[in-house]
Amino acid sequence: MNAASDLFARENAAQEIAALSDSIRAHDMRYYQHNAPTISDAEYDALRARLELLEKEYPELVKVDSPTQRVGAAPSEAFSKVRHSKPMLSLANAFAREDVAEFLARIRRFLELEESADITLVCEPKIDGLSFSARYEKGLLKQAATRGDGEVGEDITANMRAIEGFPTQLSDAPEVLEVRGEVYMCKHDFAALNATRAEAGDPLFANPRNAAAGSLRQLDPSVTARRKLSYFVYAWAELSAPLAATQYETVVALGGLGFHVNPRMQRVSTLDALMHYYEQLGEQRAGLGYDIDGVVYKVDRLDWQVRLGQVARAPRWAIAHKFPAEQAITVIEAIDIQVGRTGALTPVARLLPVNVGGVMVSNATLHNEDEIARKDIQIGDTVVIQRAGDVIPQVVEVRLAQRPADAMPYMAPVHCPVCGAHAVREADEVVRRCTGGLTCEAQAVERLKHFVSRDALDIDGLGDKVIEAFYREGMVTSPVDLFTLESRDSQSLTRIKNRDGWGEKSATNLFASIEKARNVGLARFIYALGIRHIGEGTAKLLAKQFTTVEAWQAAMQADTMREELLQIDGIGAKVADALAEFFSEPHNTQLLAQLLGYLNIEPYAPPTASNSPVAGKTVVFTGTLEKIGRKEAKTQAESLGAKVASAVSKKTDYVIAGSDAGSKLKAATELGVTVISEQEWLALIGDTRG
Ligand code: IVH
Repeated sequence: MNAASDLFARENAAQEIAALSDSIRAHDMRYYQHNAPTISDAEYDALRARLELLEKEYPELVKVDSPTQRVGAAPSEAFSKVRHSKPMLSLANAFAREDVAEFLARIRRFLELEESADITLVCEPKIDGLSFSARYEKGLLKQAATRGDGEVGEDITANMRAIEGFPTQLSDAPEVLEVRGEVYMCKHDFAALNATRAEAGDPLFANPRNAAAGSLRQLDPSVTARRKLSYFVYAWAELSAPLAATQYETVVALGGLGFHVNPRMQRVSTLDALMHYYEQLGEQRAGLGYDIDGVVYKVDRLDWQVRLGQVARAPRWAIAHKFPAEQAITVIEAIDIQVGRTGALTPVARLLPVNVGGVMVSNATLHNEDEIARKDIQIGDTVVIQRAGDVIPQVVEVRLAQRPADAMPYMAPVHCPVCGAHAVREADEVVRRCTGGLTCEAQAVERLKHFVSRDALDIDGLGDKVIEAFYREGMVTSPVDLFTLESRDSQSLTRIKNRDGWGEKSATNLFASIEKARNVGLARFIYALGIRHIGEGTAKLLAKQFTTVEAWQAAMQADTMREELLQIDGIGAKVADALAEFFSEPHNTQLLAQLLGYLNIEPYAPPTASNSPVAGKTVVFTGTLEKIGRKEAKTQAESLGAKVASAVSKKTDYVIAGSDAGSKLKAATELGVTVISEQEWLALIGDTRG
């Protein structure tokens, strides 16, 4: 190469580096700050890999503010900032066996070990969540923070407290302990959250990671408390006295202190064993219940970790062995309409079947017509699809360059494809609905499925296929029919036990679970009715307010129902309208009356001392409480098994400080007792005012 072409190549590289840096920075911003990435992890990794390659070739072109020099995006403005005692590092990536072999070889070279020397490594799942750091002093949680840019994160102490099972107090803990780990959302909780949001017309989270991020980074921690988040601790920063000499034993000891640690953590000593762990976990991946994006290998000996130190922003003693992304490219062959229980029409893409992370996929949800327009999706398009959690796969983006000339834009239906009734979209709604009500077969079947589902009447033995068959044959067309099924069956010539796939035992079990479901709590019952906008949370609010089914029904049929409903904290006009609509339909009130003839609806029972998170704790209230009177707060705490004291001592577990808190707050701070706000307290005990 001559000098001129050298200069030319360098010029090109400088331009490409600048463009890549801008693009990565923008993607970091979307990912870290808005929880709304627009490209896949694999595409992002490719951008970074390209930038790293160019920077390696032209080290003189590396800018101090290059994205390769920092870990994430700068923290957002709303939370207060926390400077980490030690930076929160990221991990180098391995994609193939050779990369893992090179990782081991590097460690041996660095430690001057024999080529054949064994290195014990800890293998564990790489959780696809958000990393956090939490600092304990004298066993008390002092501060928790997000990673932010690795140096400065956001204060999420109140939010971490709201996560079930996350300890705020440790006994027998070192003087200072800073743990690090990952907050995530289980696939099941993610699916439930999105279902509730879809029902309410709220925008959906794209995947469990985004849902976890959106739930954790809430300025109001009571929102975090209502979303089900989980966490694992897998590392630590400051530690006043070592807990053990190895990574594995230290994490086990952290588990002993009360933190959730991953039970899949294992120690192995050869490259083959690492690969075996990786492959095995890959096979188990879909069934784990939470999303992972690879395996992390860590050198077990802590003295070696210290000697190995770090390069750039990643430790030399650990590496992330990534799984191939669960994305694939395919073609949309058609767009069909699915009719839901409340008549919502959901467009579904029928795909040319494609293998996504080991599962054949032939459908993807398109959510609603606005989403289709936003992503500019047409029939015939080549699209990138992605599997997130247990939900139906989604279309990530359209490859516009590959759009065929005969691609067809999507036309929203004006009639329900199942019953033919008009399909309308109301002014402020994103969804289009069938107006056929229960005369629409699809709605009737979906409503039955909902009625028997796990969080509703929880009747085993009535899967979707069974419900569909029973409906088709006219055996069960309304929820009430379930409770006369056994007696009708006994008179029938075509007994259930003689049907294909059934037998004496499964039929008896089915009748037993229907019988059992006849005793049901008020909240579950309200939820089971499948009224629009009434998810589990709202059903609970209603049950709590009205206690018995009779009182609820009477209030819903009174002239004052709207005013009464709107007084309930957490219930708004949408829910009030939906209830008014439900109770104004004679077929609904008839159904309710019939059901009450078969069911025993148990009155709402508030949490008791035996199942409450504050049972056995000593608490002190101080200052002015706003949502709840002092006397009520005391009685409520006692009914939940807590001991309410009037003075703060070392034995106090929580001081609940309202506004104008004075000497007790001071005493609590001096004694290192956990102080929480009224909001946090209400969130902790699951009071919906929190
Ligand atoms: S160890 C110094 N272990 O992956 C080592 N990280 O890409 C710190 N992550 O920032 C990380 N699961 O957010 C470690 N079992 C695990 C992990 C894990 C997920 C995340 C973590 C880290 C990122 C690096």
